[in-house]
Amino acid sequence: MKAEEIRRRFIEFFKSKGHAEIRSASLIPENDPTCLFTTAGMHPLVPYLQGAKHPAGRRLTDYQKCVRTGDIDEVGDAVHLTFFEMLGNWALGDYFKEEAIKFSFEFLTGKENLNLPLDMLGFTVFAGDEDCPFDQEAFDLWRSLGVAESRIAKLPKKDNWWGPAGITGPCGPDTEMFYWTGPLPAPEKFDPEDKRWVEIWNDVFMQYNKNAEGKYEPLAQRNVDTGMGLERVTAVLQGKKSCYETEIFAPLFAELDLIRGAEAVDPALRSASERIIADHLRASCFIIGDGITPGRTDQAYVLRRLIRRAVREGRKLGIQGNFCARIAARVIELFEGLYPELEERKSVILQALEKEETQFAATLEKGTKEFQKLIDRVPPHITRKIISGKNAFNLFETYGFPIELTVEMAREQNFEVDMAGYQEAYKKHQELSRAGAEQKFKGGLADASEQTARLHSATHLLQAALRKTLGTHVCQRGSNITAERLRFDFSHPEKVTPEQLKIVEDLVNQAIERDLEITCEEMDLEAARARGAMGLFGDKYGARVKVYTMGDVSCEICGGPHAKRTGELGHFRIIKEESSSQGVRRIKAVLESK
Ligand code: ALA
Repeated sequence: MKAEEIRRRFIEFFKSKGHAEIRSASLIPENDPTCLFTTAGMHPLVPYLQGAKHPAGRRLTDYQKCVRTGDIDEVGDAVHLTFFEMLGNWALGDYFKEEAIKFSFEFLTGKENLNLPLDMLGFTVFAGDEDCPFDQEAFDLWRSLGVAESRIAKLPKKDNWWGPAGITGPCGPDTEMFYWTGPLPAPEKFDPEDKRWVEIWNDVFMQYNKNAEGKYEPLAQRNVDTGMGLERVTAVLQGKKSCYETEIFAPLFAELDLIRGAEAVDPALRSASERIIADHLRASCFIIGDGITPGRTDQAYVLRRLIRRAVREGRKLGIQGNFCARIAARVIELFEGLYPELEERKSVILQALEKEETQFAATLEKGTKEFQKLIDRVPPHITRKIISGKNAFNLFETYGFPIELTVEMAREQNFEVDMAGYQEAYKKHQELSRAGAEQKFKGGLADASEQTARLHSATHLLQAALRKTLGTHVCQRGSNITAERLRFDFSHPEKVTPEQLKIVEDLVNQAIERDLEITCEEMDLEAARARGAMGLFGDKYGARVKVYTMGDVSCEICGGPHAKRTGELGHFRIIKEESSSQGVRRIKAVLESK
């Protein structure tokens, strides 16, 4: 049975038992500051499990998108996923163990449902401890439905207790359902230690709230919370060893084959790199779909890690250009019917991936070389091989390697990373940049970014003035802007005389006086070329470019940002002219208030 059919049957079954279908909540928890992501179907329902009234009633069902990043380093093996869907049903102060277990039994074994033979199933119940007694009721209920005693295991809290999802919140004893995946017939005795028994469903009887002191308080109402991992149950029911072998991932692997120009292979033979790419980009799509963009903290950082790890695995497979957005487009196609936010935010998702991938790809190769240099520097006879914290921090700061990536790459070559040293370097850097920001503030530059935009506009005017004064052989060779000055390198065979510099300065100031409007238009590279826009027509730009025009003075392809009008620039003054390298001159200039 396909995942789609399992999902549909599950929801239909619980609707037929009086449950209201609710929409999957965001991956970003609203009610749990102790967690970065929604990790289970119950997670968004915490306030209702604690007693608040749910608008849809006391019986609910849904498929919920979930992300669990505890496993991120294990993704790539056959079973781990960071993103998955969880099917669930809930009773909020409504039915309890009896109906819950009967519903589960009926859905697992019923002909129109999953239709699983009872002799392929095993069960666990809570054995009891000082917090909560043995779950005799659950045990008796399974027995009454025809389950053999030998197929019911009694396990302690470490196995048969679920929650809370974060650090505090609702939790309780559970009963779990397992399916035999080994050779037939299934053993008479259910041995939960035998990995061929795979857990497919979990019914949690939530009667406790774990508080901040770690104490279990009784909940105001008793609830049922169940969770069935869709990808896993699909694999198990299809007799597959891994969810990566099911139709859920097949279209993503097919797209990857297209990108690589590779032949399709047996789904069981997909490599770890392929699995990581498929999983991480699936997760990334959904995370961006819920409003996160890659960044330096919290969810944004996890997202960045996922994308950058996928990009690196892509390089291992020999993919050179950007590929993330192409995989993402397939993910969106597959899931937009079920999760409309993917369709609504499609362009945001694709753009965010494209941007992050471009940014990282630009330094990945250099960073990898740098990394290899560090490795090669250590003589082979050293037994404990370490990458220093300072070097790990440099890989992060200069090449954008998330520390976890450096650790992973190090591990591949039997190196360790000095994490304490890394933390120290990171902290020191934060303190320095804070001090820098304060310094700027003291200097009276209220908004450094506006000043750099103005200097950037002045650079365009400068290039135009140089071409007018010295000739059209003048071309930009480099540009660097700080909050205080601009620096412009350009092709010119000899020193620029003081007289020429004066003319250039005057031309720029005249353009400023005219208070020209600075406009920005997006167009195809071809159109920009036809317009006579300045710019390097190499492969530096994409097919669409931004063209900034300043009256009849300047027209350049550029990413921006710029001032709105030239009148904002103040007074332009050249402070230095010097040689930069053979055939290249350098001008430094400032903008002064009038
Ligand atoms: N909340 C339970 C789980 O995630 C059902 O397994």
